[in-house]
Amino acid sequence: MKGIILAGGTGSRLYPLTLAVNKQLLPVYDKPLIYYPLSLLIECGLTEILLISSPPALPAFYKLLGDGLHVGINLSYAPQESPGGIAQALLIAEDFLAGDSCCLVLGDNIFIAPSIVPAVRKAAVDLKGALIFACQVQFPARYGVLAWDECGQVQAIVEKPSVPPSSWAVTGLYCFDGSAPKRAAKLKPSARGELEITDVNVNYLQDNALQVDRLPRSSAWFDAGTPGSLLDAANYVQVLQTRQGRLIGSPEICAYRRHLIVADELRALGHAQQASPYGQQLLSFAMEDRIHAGT
Ligand code: G1P
Repeated sequence: MKGIILAGGTGSRLYPLTLAVNKQLLPVYDKPLIYYPLSLLIECGLTEILLISSPPALPAFYKLLGDGLHVGINLSYAPQESPGGIAQALLIAEDFLAGDSCCLVLGDNIFIAPSIVPAVRKAAVDLKGALIFACQVQFPARYGVLAWDECGQVQAIVEKPSVPPSSWAVTGLYCFDGSAPKRAAKLKPSARGELEITDVNVNYLQDNALQVDRLPRSSAWFDAGTPGSLLDAANYVQVLQTRQGRLIGSPEICAYRRHLIVADELRALGHAQQASPYGQQLLSFAMEDRIHAGT
């Protein structure tokens, strides 16, 4: 299984914050937004990752993340010439995937949901069809929303419905088998002119090949697409990190936990940023070697 991060979009709901800076480079407390989905993919054991973004933003992402070798991954880049929808990422990634399965995550989605990692790791081994993750939200109309039948089986998925059939939103994390690019290629643009990821999911559903993992209530999911949700996410991360004394959404720590880098390498990465609390946290994590304490 390979990883795809879609970090495109105009970020228009965040103007003027995103007039000069890509949304996924904005800070969420102490680190750029893109660190969170990248960390999730690393935590899930994916080491071949493609980052897709608008051509003007790609140099900044490269400056931030390079080829990924410092965190033991192989990170490559591809342009999305214009925002043509999430499903377009599957077409852009077709050569990169070369028939492999993928885990696609949206660059503005933050998950603090430990149940995801074993589910994706299992999917990487035996996924047939698609696996998506659903979360209960107060305002489902902003998302793809699931409709259930009486037996609790998914009946339909509706993109941004004016009358939501349930409070279960489809999150921006999708595992697909190797057929996803071909399914995306058959789609027609929606009324908003985009290739909708919901249509890919519906396509799998029609083939009886869609699994839905409902995130437990203890999970937190943010799509940091508006000023309010960006601040909510930052506050949440600050509270949790301060209380627990450990970083959330750190690619370096995730790489260390996954044994992609060793303590000396983590220490060097921390050393290079030791003027910041983030760098200091990397240093102290490497020194305490908390991985062996099971945290
Ligand atoms: C997109 C998807 C939607 C999904 C959401 C998750 O919405 O179209 O189905 O629920 O991401 O963040 P958009 O970001 O395009 O509004």
